[in-house]
Amino acid sequence: MTTDAEFIRALPKAELHLHIEGSLEPEQMFELGRRNRIALPFKSVEEVRAAYAFSNLQDFLDIYYQGAGVLMTEQDFHDLAMAYFRRVAADGCRHVELFFDPQTHTDRGLPFSVAIEGLLSGMAEAKASLGITSKLILCFLRHLDEDAAFATLKAADPWLDRIVGVGLDSSEVGHPPSKFAGVYRAARERGLKLVAHAGEEGPPAYVYEALDILGVDRIDHGNRALEDPALVARLAKSGMTLTVCPLSNLKLCVVDDLKAHPMKRMLELGLHATVNSDDPAYFGGYLAENWLQTAQALNLSRADLITLAKNSFTGSFLTPAEIAAHLTEVEAYAAGEVS
Ligand code: ADE
Ligand code: ZN
Repeated sequence: MTTDAEFIRALPKAELHLHIEGSLEPEQMFELGRRNRIALPFKSVEEVRAAYAFSNLQDFLDIYYQGAGVLMTEQDFHDLAMAYFRRVAADGCRHVELFFDPQTHTDRGLPFSVAIEGLLSGMAEAKASLGITSKLILCFLRHLDEDAAFATLKAADPWLDRIVGVGLDSSEVGHPPSKFAGVYRAARERGLKLVAHAGEEGPPAYVYEALDILGVDRIDHGNRALEDPALVARLAKSGMTLTVCPLSNLKLCVVDDLKAHPMKRMLELGLHATVNSDDPAYFGGYLAENWLQTAQALNLSRADLITLAKNSFTGSFLTPAEIAAHLTEVEAYAAGEVS
């Protein structure tokens, strides 16, 4: 029998919750800082890593937005994306649906085109050189107002055929999904998929709002939905995908211990949960590490892991034919492992 680590690495899987700016490793932060002549408030990589001790989401966001300040050119975004894709290629990842935060960059004076063109070129190279497919999701920063989100959607207009959907991230509490009802309606009218962070730190009411007011196709995180049995039943019945991020939950103190993580319970309750890394450079692990640490902490079975792999594809925005091809690959892998 293979070890959990071997089994997980070779298991075909997708990542559906990844902030590309959150894959900026301290080494690359220094390299880009030098390249763009931007001084960092840290003397060394070790000092940066030592600063990654967070008590909540806001602690992390403050340092994450600061780190993103070294990204200045299309080449920087291309290199950032490729560094991430190289890592997850080694994790058995076949497909990624990645978030980016355009307002973090346009508010620093970068033209809207810089981040998106750099990322799209990295995504094209990842497909050509690593065989990983990917789709891009534009996130609105929820601590800013809805007018700013509308301006971002307007700026994205020339690229809408290369964006699969929109998302909602940044500081959750005090910024409910309902604040963005209008811009989500506009995004839906443009044929975009809709996702939103909800229930990471915010209450179950925010998950209801994401479903009922925004009309989302996926919930990002969703942990706090478990506090409401009627909501759990609804999510399970509708097959709503939750993009859960175990190491992020640990680092941001959403859970005290991975052994107390709700992933196993989510599967038992029939929720369509997936495992993702969120901001891997900040939270101590890329995709396979999230899978491995969760599997070990919660004693997940091989059947659980296969369910999670299937969920990662069925919850994606790939076409039914593409999803079917990935599921065939997962099943072939599972059959080979068992026999
Ligand atoms: N932006 C990057 N990571 C995030 C997270 N986990 N929650 C909200 N906004 C984010
Ligand atoms: Zn996130």
